[in-house]
Amino acid sequence: MARTIAELKKKKIGVLMGGVSEEREISLKTGRSVASTLRSAGYRVSSIDAGADLATRLRRSRIDVAFIALHGRLGEDGCVQGLLEVMGIPYTGSKVLSSALCMDKAEAKKILAFHGIKTPRWRIVERREEADGLGLPLVIKPVSGGSAIGASIVKNRAAIGRAIARAGRSGRRVMAEGFISGRELTVGVLDSVALPVVEILPKRGFYDFAAKYTKGGCEFEVPARLTPAQEKRVTDSALASCAALGCTGAARVDVILSGRGAAYVIEVNTIPGMTGLSLLPMAAEAAGIDYLSLIERILLGAGCAGGAGQGGAIN
Ligand SMILES: Nc1ncnc2c1ncn2[C@@H]1O[C@H](COP(=O)(O)OP(=O)(O)O)[C@@H](O)[C@H]1O
Ligand SMILES: [Mg+2]
Repeated sequence: MARTIAELKKKKIGVLMGGVSEEREISLKTGRSVASTLRSAGYRVSSIDAGADLATRLRRSRIDVAFIALHGRLGEDGCVQGLLEVMGIPYTGSKVLSSALCMDKAEAKKILAFHGIKTPRWRIVERREEADGLGLPLVIKPVSGGSAIGASIVKNRAAIGRAIARAGRSGRRVMAEGFISGRELTVGVLDSVALPVVEILPKRGFYDFAAKYTKGGCEFEVPARLTPAQEKRVTDSALASCAALGCTGAARVDVILSGRGAAYVIEVNTIPGMTGLSLLPMAAEAAGIDYLSLIERILLGAGCAGGAGQGGAIN
């Protein structure tokens, strides 16, 4: 793939967006924003909606590299990455296995635990009794969700069953996780380097779908006000998580810094949002990397697992 911006400028870039997941609308926002920024900078760009005919569209568009701006099922979970591997088209971000692992919060947490990275205790649950022993409050959420869709905090045992049913809609596996009370942080990681930590200060106590995507739903502090020791703990956890899960390119790690000062990794996002309100561009900006430069950096890291991709612990 391209090693310099000059080489990148000669490539035809496909921005894969939309898709079929619940996060389609967010993905379209990310994709449109990425595509228009690249076009304004003089790149040749093809916007591609990643539906069932994706293979045909990819073949017809004759792109040299794919910028994957998809979130959720069939976009962020290794499936589209696998298709691009088969077609030999270099693509941005994590490779097949890393994408699939990070999309499944329970599998990702097993790997984190194996590497001694702190993550809240959890269990896969189908019935209320299976959450016994985890304590309260709990967060009940789909194993492969996104954008906090279907997630809820339960404070009493009686509410667990309903929360499981809500999270388990459309046949999704559900996990119960110990609720960590603390500061909500997120760490953008770009090519194995941590960006300044962002603190999310939701106005209503829980960073839910509405708070995330409504202007003014949250406030942000970048860089987060942390002591050097806290910052190191949070950043080290994020980098260790990405290394353990084999993430490449850009990723974003959600961390809660507990009242006692422990950094708990909640999840690793392999395709962080890139809309105007998104956290990764915000973190990059604080590091002096503007939006276009961030997109270019991500594109320069594109590859296939067997080809020009950068290796991680897992590829
Ligand atoms: N164990 C937990 N303790 C406290 N808050 C949590 C926990 N798990 C999730 N949350 C809250 O729910 C939000 C969404 O959960 P997350 O696991 O990041 O899923 P998503 O993929 O939907 O972003 C988090 O940003 C956080 O505010
Ligand atoms: Mg999250």
